[in-house]
Amino acid sequence: MPLLVVELFAGVGGFRLGLEGPPGSERDGDFKVVMANQWEPSTKTQHAADVYVKRWGLIPKEEGATLYIHPEHDDDLFLNEDISKVPIKEIPKHDLLVGGFPCQDYSVAKTLDKAKGLQGKKGVLWWEIHRIIKAKKPKHVLLENVDRLLKSPVKQRGRDFAVMLACLSELGYVVEWRVINAAEYGMPQRRRRVFILAHKRGTEQHRILSRKKVNAIEWLTESGTIAKAFPVHRTPEQLVFEQHLLSEGEDFADLSERFNKKGLPGNKSPFENSGIMSKNRFWTLRTEPRFEGKYQILSDVLLTPGKVPDEYFLSTTSMTQNKGWKYLKGAKKEKRYGRDGFIYSYNEGGMIFPDALDRPSRTIITGEGGSSPSRFKHVVKFKPTKGQRKRLKLDSKEHNKIRENFRLLESEWVRRLTPIELERLNMFPDNHTEGASDSKRAFFMGNALVIGIIEKFAEVLAER
Ligand SMILES: C[S@@+](CC[C@H](N)C(=O)[O-])C[C@H]1O[C@@H](n2cnc3c(N)ncnc32)[C@H](O)[C@@H]1O
Repeated sequence: MPLLVVELFAGVGGFRLGLEGPPGSERDGDFKVVMANQWEPSTKTQHAADVYVKRWGLIPKEEGATLYIHPEHDDDLFLNEDISKVPIKEIPKHDLLVGGFPCQDYSVAKTLDKAKGLQGKKGVLWWEIHRIIKAKKPKHVLLENVDRLLKSPVKQRGRDFAVMLACLSELGYVVEWRVINAAEYGMPQRRRRVFILAHKRGTEQHRILSRKKVNAIEWLTESGTIAKAFPVHRTPEQLVFEQHLLSEGEDFADLSERFNKKGLPGNKSPFENSGIMSKNRFWTLRTEPRFEGKYQILSDVLLTPGKVPDEYFLSTTSMTQNKGWKYLKGAKKEKRYGRDGFIYSYNEGGMIFPDALDRPSRTIITGEGGSSPSRFKHVVKFKPTKGQRKRLKLDSKEHNKIRENFRLLESEWVRRLTPIELERLNMFPDNHTEGASDSKRAFFMGNALVIGIIEKFAEVLAER
């Protein structure tokens, strides 16, 4: 029997690809997504949902419906609706709830009307996840977030994560977490995210972690689910830090109000990159990745030059113009004008330009697409074909001047990354997002995850 999965904040389906494999491929049958939910609040057209339903062959239940079904299997649903508007009864029974969601303010306040109890901020998506876990009680929950979650907010480092852990503890879950940088486990992109894996009563992980004596170091470095999927060294000088979440008589609002209010030395969060939580207590420790396999690098994902469309080549003007590539990628020390005419000095270091091909790539961000120059978009050097040189006049004087300026060889030129290369950096199948505009495709990849990470989670979860 496969584990039944509900995929929240599904985007273009990164979790599903990691758990099930590419659409239409022979599944090994350990996981089966029975419902996905995706709704983009900022646009009317639902670009990511369009990609998802197309890739997995789903069709609207009726004309104009937000519910999509599979024409042959009735256990493959997709809902293109704001998750906060989705009634629990529409969410099928499942064993594993997954999702990558935004880092927002998770603080809890007591309501003015005491009888109503406690209240989190409106529109904060953690409370939607919480509502679903509470009602559906899946065996496991796997969530992804930016690592800032462990340290936010700045004035009360770690409060949001503490509230989240306390909520999961109250619902009877034990939790493991780890900050994982995909590149440190041989994947082609440096992308650092925190993965939070919760287990319900009745699972093996819950049985072990809810014992009276928990061997946190052993679990975090050897036998834990995450430790099995992502081996680590323990950082020698780092002691395990242990703390209770709620104190006697406290509720979530009290925890939210007081957690780390005084601040630790250096304004640090108590949460290190690895940890576990069980029965209102957490243990946390700094670990370092241990990986002996092959490291993938940026050059591994590049298309052969002949396959790169002309619009990805950088133009000579875009390099040297005001606020062009040269300026934006470069180091700067300048005066800037704030609102109200306030003048401040602005400094930043230079970016490696073009990007290093012999290392994993930098993180893809949502603004990666489009031809306008940017500090954060990737630019690579490559050897254009004869045809491209001729067509784009790459042997002109202006081009040679730029080559001199940026220390490029005569045979080389520079370009942005294509949508397929961005997909490869997240280990998606080539052309998974085909059909959307190139800048939307880049946006999807800036939002998505490296699916090799989910594949590793899938392996250990299936084994257990
Ligand atoms: C960080 S992305 C997750 C991307 C996904 N893991 C993937 O592989 O593509 C978060 C997603 O949540 C969606 N989203 C934001 N607010 C939502 C809401 N209220 N209801 C449902 N989905 C929402 C966004 O459109 C975005 O696609």
